[in-house]
Amino acid sequence: MRQLLFTLFVSRALLGISASSFGDNVTGEVVNLEVKPIIFLPTLPEAKVFGEQGELKYCGGLQLSSGNSAFGGLSGVILLHNGSRLLAVEDVGRWFSATLHYTKDGHLNNLSDALLGPLLDAEGDSLIGKELGDAESIIASGHTDDLDFLISFERRHRIWRYHLEGGGSGPMHALAQPVANVTDYILQAGCEENGGMEAIALLADGGLLVFCEKPPPSTDAIHVVPGWVFDVQQGEAPQKLFLDCKEDGWYPTDLATLPGGDVLVLQRFYSRAKGSAMRLRRLKQEDICDGVTLEGKLIAEFSAADGFAIDNMEGAAVFVHDTWGTRLLIVSDDNFSPSQQTVLHMFQLSESHRNRSEDTWAAPPSSEQEAHDETRDNRFILLCTIYTLTTMSATCIAVLTLRKWYSWRKEDWYRQMEPSIQLRGTSGDEDMAADLPAQPYADM
Ligand SMILES: *[C@@H]1O[C@H](CO)[C@@H](O)[C@H](O)[C@H]1NC(C)=O
Ligand SMILES: *[C@@H]1O[C@H](CO)[C@@H](O)[C@H](O)[C@H]1NC(C)=O
Ligand SMILES: *[C@@H]1O[C@H](CO)[C@@H](O)[C@H](O)[C@H]1NC(C)=O
Ligand SMILES: *[C@@H]1O[C@H](CO)[C@@H](O)[C@H](O)[C@H]1NC(C)=O
Ligand SMILES: *[C@@H]1O[C@H](CO)[C@@H](O)[C@H](O)[C@H]1NC(C)=O
Repeated sequence: MRQLLFTLFVSRALLGISASSFGDNVTGEVVNLEVKPIIFLPTLPEAKVFGEQGELKYCGGLQLSSGNSAFGGLSGVILLHNGSRLLAVEDVGRWFSATLHYTKDGHLNNLSDALLGPLLDAEGDSLIGKELGDAESIIASGHTDDLDFLISFERRHRIWRYHLEGGGSGPMHALAQPVANVTDYILQAGCEENGGMEAIALLADGGLLVFCEKPPPSTDAIHVVPGWVFDVQQGEAPQKLFLDCKEDGWYPTDLATLPGGDVLVLQRFYSRAKGSAMRLRRLKQEDICDGVTLEGKLIAEFSAADGFAIDNMEGAAVFVHDTWGTRLLIVSDDNFSPSQQTVLHMFQLSESHRNRSEDTWAAPPSSEQEAHDETRDNRFILLCTIYTLTTMSATCIAVLTLRKWYSWRKEDWYRQMEPSIQLRGTSGDEDMAADLPAQPYADM
């Protein structure tokens, strides 16, 4: 009997399809986290701009740890509600959601209200465990008010459509209708159990771009991973393409579509000697078509050996904030290992990602420059006034000069008190409010 119980226990644990630590409670449980703000390059805390051409401006990072052994293994991530809520998948069949907090100028500085829950199949059964629940990537599809999610799984290669109820608190159950029958294609390409659909993204035209994590063992092209663009709506045969990772081991772990339609690829590398490293490449939207081998443009490379606070980076998400512009979040999968970390790092992307202009930064003019211009304009107006008034009464000139001088002093004083409010002559309350976020890159 003991033997039988033991066998049952082991087989349930191995299969990982047992009732989870959540019992039947599938709505998500509060998970206590220790949240520690960190910086991307601790050895050089002043550095804020990264990337080959300064495409990434650093906006804060967090390190998460928990006494709850169910937390970890974050493999894919998306941001909801204007970047205020994060939704991630663990590669053992759980979802994780949390509220992100920012300073007034958009610096990520805290995380709260963390929930952890099991991913469910269409019958409501838990997928917790590696066998069924090896989720590697998540993307959102649909409208903000009624969001569906697509989640890719490896081992049992598939993409399932999910629905999240309760505004991000679960339950998170699979919908019965399949996304696209991707399994056949993954198996035909010869991808390994642990080399499945690590990276997926929804393209601007609605196509579903998918890359496997590793080249199939049978291939000679050891840097090249297979990919597809699936037609989610019509279910027609997918376009087949490849991603050339350029070097052995730099395989894709996530994708994120940029507002202009290009796609960012997150690549991860690990070696015992150097630890973790990551690259970001950018694929042009128009290059993504049938039969091509994509390379993309390298925009950044970071390595733990160079001091960057990264680990096994597996998740990337892009969102557009009303006032801060385009943001990128990357997260690490700690493999549930005590020697690895769960870290989150957020960046602002240069506006060239939005509209493809070659300019890397579309930063607004600095307030110093504007203040200088305004003072110069005012001096000019005053000189003209004095010039036209020289023939009139000396009192009039004195009064005008005094008034102007007084208003200058007042403006200077306001500027010192409220550096983000830029006074512009007769601007009403509305204009002042509009001026508040005019410095999205300042003091970050
Ligand atoms: C289920 O989860 C909710 C939300 O976290 C929690 O309040 C409740 O106590 C849980 N119920 C059980 C039976 O675990
Ligand atoms: C996004 O956040 C900004 C400021 O944080 C806010 O002004 C704006 O209304 C938010 N937009 C939405 C759609 O929630
Ligand atoms: C982060 O949020 C938690 C929970 O809301 C709070 O207790 C903590 O003080 C916050 N930390 C910082 C640095 O603001
Ligand atoms: C989908 O793929 C599975 C697994 O390879 C296969 O058995 C099934 O026939 C396919 N279904 C369709 C509709 O193509
Ligand atoms: C494109 O970006 C440039 C600067 O990089 C900016 O000046 C221009 O207004 C942008 N155009 C659009 C349509 O957003």
